[in-house]
Amino acid sequence: MSIASETAGAERTGKAGRQAPPRRRVAESKMTVTKASQALGALVRDIDLSRDFSDAEIATLRDAFNTHGLLLFRDQDISPEAHVAFSRRFGELEHHVLSDALLDGLPEIYILSILKKDGKRVGRAGAGHYWHSDLSYMAQPSLGSLLRAIEVPEVGGDTMFANLALAYDALSAPMRSFLGGLEAEHSFAKVQSVVKNLGLNEPITPEQLAKTPPVIHPLVREHPETGRKSLFLSPGFTTGIVGMTREESAALLDFLADHASQPRFVYRHAWRPNDIVFWDNRTLMHYAINDYDYEKDRRHMHRTTIRGGEAH
Ligand code: SIN
Repeated sequence: MSIASETAGAERTGKAGRQAPPRRRVAESKMTVTKASQALGALVRDIDLSRDFSDAEIATLRDAFNTHGLLLFRDQDISPEAHVAFSRRFGELEHHVLSDALLDGLPEIYILSILKKDGKRVGRAGAGHYWHSDLSYMAQPSLGSLLRAIEVPEVGGDTMFANLALAYDALSAPMRSFLGGLEAEHSFAKVQSVVKNLGLNEPITPEQLAKTPPVIHPLVREHPETGRKSLFLSPGFTTGIVGMTREESAALLDFLADHASQPRFVYRHAWRPNDIVFWDNRTLMHYAINDYDYEKDRRHMHRTTIRGGEAH
């Protein structure tokens, strides 16, 4: 799909917000799941995400998702409506607070794109160039995100994912016990300076910031489905540890960010067009690498973001 069709379904119906086309139901799934790296992730083959899925198939995918933290689906040339329909099988979807970057007629799709149309940005440009967990600045941080690559640079624009459960396990018992009693503040406002320095997007507005006040989350959280503990790190949004001095807080958060982003905990994804990557924000943090040319390269993606519960 090119950006000429950046209104959901509009190229086929002439109006925004149409219903998804009928989807094929396949009685028996032939999908296979194989590990993508030692740290995390799995490749799911022989699956077409535009079709209808039985509850049993969704349960199988959910198990794989909980086991591997990230599922990669290749060759998914699917419509935005199908992307939303598949994502909904895993929970309620967010409408991102940056409403200018939402797809016309389908606000569940957040557009991450370096492209412009008629001189105007078509989505959020250069987003996520820092380690973070999506929407950690909300009272109910995201369960997971599904990012579909539509156009990608020939080289560059990869995304790194770090496994925060493995990183937690690798800490000493006294450190784990110390961290277990701590909480941290997360704030969307923290990225305002990054946005200004990049100069690619309009600044986040006071209204958008008012909708996303700072929140407090535990520094160690338990996965609600597997019970596994992980660090709750989101360096792009985390502003400090409750009760600590600025220096103590910065030293501890820097140590944890360095620890958790070691190569042994990381999977780096090199995107191909029509890849969909579905990752668990409850156990991973990620980083969109800013090594492509903002003027010459084309990188255009659609993301759905699944709402989570409170972090414990
Ligand atoms: C994000 O969801 O933070 C963006 C990831 C990416 O563009 O690779």
